[in-house]
Amino acid sequence: MNAPAYPPDLVRDVARRRTFAIISHPDAGKTTLTEKLLLYGGAILLAGTVKARKSARHATSDWMEVEKQRGISVTSSVMQFDYAGHTINLLDTPGHQDFSEDTYRVLTAVDAAVMVIDAAKGVEAQTIKLLEVCRLRDTPIITFVNKMDREVREPLALLEEIEAVLGIDCAPVSWPLGMGKAFRGVFDLRHDRLKRFTPGEERVTGDAEEIVGLDNPRLDELYPGEVAALRHDVALLRSASPPFDLDRFLAGRQTSVFFGSGINNFGVQEILEALTQWAPPPQPRDGGTRVVHPAEAPFSGFVFKIQANMDPKHRDRIAFFRVCSGRYAPGMKVRHLRLGREMKLGNVMTFMAQERVMSEDAVAGDIIGIHNHGQLHIGDTLTEGEELDFKGIPYFAPELFRVARSRDPLKTKQLTKGLKELGEEGAIQVFETEQSNTLLLGAVGQLQFEVVAARLASEYKVDAIYDPASISTARWLTFPDDNLRRNFEREQASALATDVDGNPVFLATNRYNLQVTMERWPKVGFRTTREHGERLAHA
Ligand code: G4P
Repeated sequence: MNAPAYPPDLVRDVARRRTFAIISHPDAGKTTLTEKLLLYGGAILLAGTVKARKSARHATSDWMEVEKQRGISVTSSVMQFDYAGHTINLLDTPGHQDFSEDTYRVLTAVDAAVMVIDAAKGVEAQTIKLLEVCRLRDTPIITFVNKMDREVREPLALLEEIEAVLGIDCAPVSWPLGMGKAFRGVFDLRHDRLKRFTPGEERVTGDAEEIVGLDNPRLDELYPGEVAALRHDVALLRSASPPFDLDRFLAGRQTSVFFGSGINNFGVQEILEALTQWAPPPQPRDGGTRVVHPAEAPFSGFVFKIQANMDPKHRDRIAFFRVCSGRYAPGMKVRHLRLGREMKLGNVMTFMAQERVMSEDAVAGDIIGIHNHGQLHIGDTLTEGEELDFKGIPYFAPELFRVARSRDPLKTKQLTKGLKELGEEGAIQVFETEQSNTLLLGAVGQLQFEVVAARLASEYKVDAIYDPASISTARWLTFPDDNLRRNFEREQASALATDVDGNPVFLATNRYNLQVTMERWPKVGFRTTREHGERLAHA
């Protein structure tokens, strides 16, 4: 059977796209690497721009007071730039674990990830969580072992740790010579050459001196004390560790490992080359009813993130939309599948490193920003008419709960409106309890409550009280039949709630209570995750 013919312009443009995110534990060097990648891509001209932009955001947006006070990055954004004939979309993720839900959603919109490891600290808690999410979709991972200019752990021990803790095979592509003050460079295992490191020099042109061949006498001349260890390590790696295997990398089974120093711009270009040469272009996606190919002519995609107040001068909400097929053209009409109606896409933005511009053109892999007045929710699918429903954006069962009530009873309506909208944005999960008719807030991280409180006060002018709730966890319920559902609801009425999409939820006062209930009702499903837009009443 012949492969379907896709429009050649789409085939060409999709093949040039690379859409990825950087994942790391806070402080491992994600911001620094982002900045250096943008420098290489010519998207920014001055180092310091990304960090400066972070602080500019602090200065201009008021609900970000929380962020400012804590010195953390809450929001995430998108940066597009060109490199070596490719269009690269870098999706930023918030580093703080309290906002991990946001990060998980961003990871559903990428085709590859760069994992930054602090070579002194090894695999850290947040990296483990993020990698687990990447593994759910077998996302290919490029590993950057950062901060080799510091006294760090032994490279072999680091690789062992990555393999053991993260459960992914490592294929070192480069190997460090020395570390800390004695860091001399990295040996490129595939091209058999040493790229020399000169501390303090910012290189963006890739002109670091190279010494070709492991037996090159220049190595003995320059590094008489260290070269024997390098030769030993390289011989060991070549005999004992499996070589880089593109198929295994693309299947998410093997990660290519690079060593370097982000702050010194060393090893950064190799990451870009790996992204363009090995990371996959946009992949076919499960559209619910069928698999959608990225070069198909009809336009389709999904919303993976809603961000409010990007521009504090306009109280705007932007829906971040990943294009999955076709081509965006200004003013085009699309179908909003959840609402079952048509929508015109005007005023759509592309996010460059330093500015947002009107989008003229976007294909699969690109992220466009759609102005949103509440009609778009996370997980919504837009197409040119076909009934599709892109899957895979998760909600996680919250572990922290608060009951919200307005100090001023006259503002209860405002509170409900505000929470509903923040719930739609994914800033917090909102549940309505069946019996007491209260609004229950569920979060994965404590800071989510603080952001919601700050935003309710500044955007909705509601001063609310957040009482502790004696609930320790929630589970989404599925029932094999209506009869069982009615019985369960009768017996457990005081522990029942519904989420924003009307799904039934069980609220457990403690782990024991959950366990006992699950044992008593073996046929009822108690789920720790659900997908956006998913209707759960029946299994
Ligand atoms: P993050 O986004 O993952 O949280 O990390 P970020 O890039 O902000 O880096 C965290 C710290 O690590 C920063 O230092 C940064 O300068 C430093 N760093 C990043 N890459 C390297 C590297 O290759 N070598 C060394 N030695 N340090 C590195 P800071 O003191 O927290 O901030 P700053 O004062 O430098 O801005």
